[in-house]
Amino acid sequence: MRKTQQQALQTTYIFFIYTYIYFTICNFSFLDYAHQWQISFQDPATPIMEGIIALHHDLMFVLSIIGASVIWLLLRTAYLFYHKNNLIPSTISHGTTIEIVWTVTPSIILMVIAIPSFALLYSIDEIIDPAVTLKAIGHQWYWSYEYSDYSNIEGKSINFDSYMINDDDLQKGQLRLLEVDNRVILPSNTHIRVLITATDVLHSWAIPSLGIKMDACPGRLNQVSMFIKRNGVFYGQCSEICGIQHGFMPIVVEAILVENYIKWVAVQTECKNWLLSKFVVLVEKQTELA
Ligand code: CUA
Repeated sequence: MRKTQQQALQTTYIFFIYTYIYFTICNFSFLDYAHQWQISFQDPATPIMEGIIALHHDLMFVLSIIGASVIWLLLRTAYLFYHKNNLIPSTISHGTTIEIVWTVTPSIILMVIAIPSFALLYSIDEIIDPAVTLKAIGHQWYWSYEYSDYSNIEGKSINFDSYMINDDDLQKGQLRLLEVDNRVILPSNTHIRVLITATDVLHSWAIPSLGIKMDACPGRLNQVSMFIKRNGVFYGQCSEICGIQHGFMPIVVEAILVENYIKWVAVQTECKNWLLSKFVVLVEKQTELA
């Protein structure tokens, strides 16, 4: 009797553990969006975002030590200089040594922090021989995208608008205020360049998982690079107050395998087969380089 009870208990445990693992994987690998009550970062999908998270953790370590030291110093001072503990007040007004110490130490800490910080900053700035260029254009209040790399013989290229899906039109499982009608399709494991601009006012193209937040300025072309390490759907939002519907112009990037991306491009440009083979050769060459 006992044995069967134990077995049942074991089976239940195993069931719960597997369910937990299953949902964890589901949560973290397929959809990258902000969760309710989330207090930390979304999972990174680019080396840049990994770097940002690593730097954040490093800084939090330094910050904890500084915070603890300062609080300890304050409490000790408050206790030792309490008027009941010091009936005759001290006449000391300054101490050169301690002042040098508490001026030089923070500057040394800042200089140490600057090293990984600048390394990250310059790596974000780096554009590594991109194989794909995407142009994102901000409008009041939607995004439009252009893939000017590709066109068929008739000159048909890829460009489309991307609007948010309204509450009434949401399908089951779609994310409110985040889903769009036309997603940005991009290949994973490929160096991508994004050119960002706007037609009317300032917008900002931002996707947390990809570590990107770039202003879209009218009359100006901004550039960022990204290398998406895994397939998935990445959600972002306009991040520059741009008017009444600022909160209703989300960004969705779907990263897929290069092979599928080539097929998608071929379908979009309605290109003939011989051109498709050219695409394959081109992309293979470029991924080799990468
Ligand atoms: Cu576009 Cu805010």
